[in-house]
Amino acid sequence: MGITGNTFTRRGFGAMLAAGLLVTGLGACANSDTGGDAGTGGDDKLVLGFSQVGAESGWRTANTTSVKEAAAEAGIELKFDDAQQKQENQIKAIRNFIQQKVDVIAFSPVVESGWDTVLKEAKDAGIPVILTDRAVDSADKSLYKTFLGSDFVKEGRLAGEWLVEETKSATGPVNIVELQGTTGSAPANDRKKGFGEAIAANPNLKIIASQSGDFTRAGGKAVMEQFLKANPKIDVLFAHNDDMGLGALEAITAAGKVPGKDIKIITVDAVKDGMQALADGKFNFIAECSPLLGPQLMDLAKKVHAGEEVPPRIETEETTFTQQTAKEALPTRKY
Ligand code: AHR
Repeated sequence: MGITGNTFTRRGFGAMLAAGLLVTGLGACANSDTGGDAGTGGDDKLVLGFSQVGAESGWRTANTTSVKEAAAEAGIELKFDDAQQKQENQIKAIRNFIQQKVDVIAFSPVVESGWDTVLKEAKDAGIPVILTDRAVDSADKSLYKTFLGSDFVKEGRLAGEWLVEETKSATGPVNIVELQGTTGSAPANDRKKGFGEAIAANPNLKIIASQSGDFTRAGGKAVMEQFLKANPKIDVLFAHNDDMGLGALEAITAAGKVPGKDIKIITVDAVKDGMQALADGKFNFIAECSPLLGPQLMDLAKKVHAGEEVPPRIETEETTFTQQTAKEALPTRKY
C-alpha cells in the first residue's frame, strides 16, 4: 500500500529508513500511514481483516485454527472477528475493517443475501474483498475479488447419490428427514438442492420432514426429537453437517432406535467426531467439506493486495467416506 499521495510504497519507505534517512519518530510516522497497514506499529505486514461466522461447529473451529495458523505462518497481521452467527455483526466488523484501513478483507458470509451495501463501501474504499467458505448472491461480481471454498451442491449430490445406490433394492417407500444448516446460508441452500436433485428420479425416496438445526449439535438434537415424535417411520437422516448429525444421534438413541441401522445417517464435513461416529457404525456416509482454507486464503490475500489477477472461483478438493474408509482415515485425521 502506498503511504500518502501514492508516491512511495511501504517497502520503498522501509528501504529509506534502513538507509538512515530518517532516524527519529519511527512509530509516529508509521502510525500516520493512511495508505494501508493500519495499527501495525510500523512494520511491513499485510493486514487482513477476517470476519468469521462464529463457532457453531467442529468444522468452524478447524477453519478458524487454519486461518489463524496460516496468517502467522505467512507473516500476515490478522484482525479476527467472531460474528456469533449474526449478519449484523459481520456487517459491523467489515465496516470496522474499512475504518481501520486494512489491506484486504475476507469473510465467510453467514447468509447469502444482503451484502451489496457493505461490499460497495469496501470497494469505494479501495479494499479488496475475498469470500471464503460461503458465497453471496450479489449480482455485481465486481464487489469481491474471488471466492475460495467448497462446491456445496456437489456435496449434497454425493450424499443423495450414495442413498440412491444404497436403497436401490428397497421395495417400499424410504422416509427421509433432513436437518438443514442455517436458514439462508449457501451450504444449507446448496446441499438441499444437490441432495434433492440426486434423489429426484426415485419416487420411493421421500423427504417427509425438513427443518433447520442451525449447524449446531443442540439444534440437531432438538429438531430430531421433534421429527421422531411426529413421524413413526424414519428410515434415513440427511444432516447438512456432522454436528447436527451428532446431536440427532443422541435423540435417536434416546428414542430407543439404533443409529446407523434403524435410521441411516448421512452427513457432510468429515470432522474427527463425525468420522469416529462413521467408523463406529453410527453414521453411514459422509461427504467431505474441507475447513483447511487458511494457506490458500493467505496466498490470495497477498495476490489481491499486490493487484494480481486471481480466478473468480477456487474450489477445494474433497472426497467422501464410508464406514470402512473412515476407519482407515481416522488415525491421521487432523481435525
Ligand atoms: O460453511 C460450511 C459449513 O458451516 C460446515 O459444513 C458447517 O459445519 C459449518 O457450520
